[in-house]
Amino acid sequence: MYRDLDFDDDELIDELRDLGYNIDDYSLTDPEFRDLDFEGYISDGADIILDVPYVPTDEKIVNAMLDLAEVTSEDVLYDLGCGDGRIVVAAALERNTRGVGIDVDPMRITEAIEYAAHTGVEYLATFMEGDLMEADFSDATVVTLYLLDLVNIQLRPRLLDELRPGTRVVSHAFDMGDWKPEQRQSCGSINIYKWIIPAKVAGTWEWTTNDNDTYRVELKQKYQQLSGKAWINGTEAVLKTALIKGDLIELVVSQHNNTRAEGFIMRSVGHELIAVEGERQATPAVRIMKP
Ligand SMILES: C[S@@+](CC[C@H](N)C(=O)[O-])C[C@H]1O[C@@H](n2cnc3c(N)ncnc32)[C@H](O)[C@@H]1O
Repeated sequence: MYRDLDFDDDELIDELRDLGYNIDDYSLTDPEFRDLDFEGYISDGADIILDVPYVPTDEKIVNAMLDLAEVTSEDVLYDLGCGDGRIVVAAALERNTRGVGIDVDPMRITEAIEYAAHTGVEYLATFMEGDLMEADFSDATVVTLYLLDLVNIQLRPRLLDELRPGTRVVSHAFDMGDWKPEQRQSCGSINIYKWIIPAKVAGTWEWTTNDNDTYRVELKQKYQQLSGKAWINGTEAVLKTALIKGDLIELVVSQHNNTRAEGFIMRSVGHELIAVEGERQATPAVRIMKP
């Protein structure tokens, strides 16, 4: 029955309502929605193809997303595909956060601007009509998404390349394929996911300690997963731990499997890995070879 329907987004919702479905309770993850054979959603009244139909996030999930991202007044939040602006407005109202909402549908942008004005947060909330695939969101410290898995995956390289390390990305219902989240949280039957943009640290790094030992590590990186090899004073050693979270890296190296391990915590700053205070590392690690 559903497959016979015509997929104009608002028309579809009206048709489902006429068929007796409580469409207000629907989300993109509901089986009926997910089973539809979409080939692009068309905005009501305008010649716009949407990558994702408009389905607003429930208020409880909006709050859970803001909590999961640990949004504060220090953040700049971007909602890509912002709909009526509810995530940006909630962050502004409840956390004093500056936010930007981008949506390709001008009707949604009008609604979002009105909503921000109505709630008195227009000085914190900016809404722009545009395609999320092309918009500049590089000054975000938090990005929220309620798109679709394939759209997330299409967006993934831009998130990884253009956002600063440490930026949090939170998605309602849809994951990022083989980029595993740092955290997943269930809100009833819906999952929300959080990723932290990792610094790019693949390559060979070298640094010297206070007592003049030279450490070298060769790191491979896939998203936030690090692996590799280590040397101490030119002799192959054991890289016991290699972790990255945002711009912070933890490396633990020992001479052999059963000897005392030395741990280093460094921050990726520009082209160097700088020792976090109190570390035994004397010089910044410099990259002597790219992967
Ligand atoms: C599922 S709704 C989410 C709305 C809002 N973020 C929320 O969580 O309530 C997806 C939104 O993405 C917008 N959208 C779809 N394709 C887009 C594109 N290429 N660029 C920008 N917005 C897009 C739709 O107009 C719709 O408002």
